[in-house]
Amino acid sequence: MSLTSGLRPLPRSDAEAPPLHVAIIMDGNGRWAKARGLPRTLGHRAGVTALKRTVEAAQQLGVGRLTVFGFSTENWSRPAQEVSELMSLPKLYFESDLARLRREGVRVRVIGRRAGLSKDVLSMIDEAETTTAANTRFHLQVAFNYGGRADIADAARRLAEAVREGRLDPAAIDEAAFESHLSTAEHAAPDLIIRTSGERRLSNFLLWETAYAELVFQDVLWPDYGPAQLKAALDEFRGRDRRYGGADVDDVLATG
Ligand code: IPE
Ligand code: IPE
Ligand code: MG
Repeated sequence: MSLTSGLRPLPRSDAEAPPLHVAIIMDGNGRWAKARGLPRTLGHRAGVTALKRTVEAAQQLGVGRLTVFGFSTENWSRPAQEVSELMSLPKLYFESDLARLRREGVRVRVIGRRAGLSKDVLSMIDEAETTTAANTRFHLQVAFNYGGRADIADAARRLAEAVREGRLDPAAIDEAAFESHLSTAEHAAPDLIIRTSGERRLSNFLLWETAYAELVFQDVLWPDYGPAQLKAALDEFRGRDRRYGGADVDDVLATG
């Protein structure tokens, strides 16, 4: 099985388990602001503070990779002023936290379509990625202008181009080959998807990669998120029985 294969075999013991990959749909900034009589903008800014707390907490709680959903391909449909505010968040986040991330061994990668992003946003992304490129202790993947369907379509196009150029035999296109063309190919699929704010849907996040992810929905609004909420989600995850379509080994032994 390839390193990037999403369907990870069950580890035989906790000691063998690779570090967890957790992905978060950071939702509820607008409702958090509304509940306080504040503009949505301030909800998004409070969301950046919550992201800083959560990245630090993840580093303490045995998570090795964290993927966060910051802006979806559908979020362009929001009012122009809100889109512009959301576009300023990578700068707000990285300007205040990139030095710490670099110091603490965090490698930053941004996934999602680059087309449509302004020069300013692109140069911030580039700086975040290049200045942390040598880090390996913790991986932070930020999904920005990301959509699961767009990513799958982009992968299909790259495979088709490889076939057209004679670099790929169509018969060699299997799940692993397909997956290696997704923007998330660098990491094994997430073990756990968390969505805050009480909504129970994926909203086009990591559609391929979530095939066997555990889903945890928390009612907390994203700006209120932090170490206690992440720990609660991880505790719930650790109590889950992941079977990947197989049968529980103890049940098989007991009942034959
Ligand atoms: C999450 O908060 C941020 C983004 C989706 C970019 P929302 O802005 O979706 O907040 P709600 O869901 O309206 O409360
Ligand atoms: C998903 O949240 C996108 C991000 C968190 C970046 P949305 O708020 O956009 O999702 P819907 O509209 O409630 O499905
Ligand atoms: Mg929302």
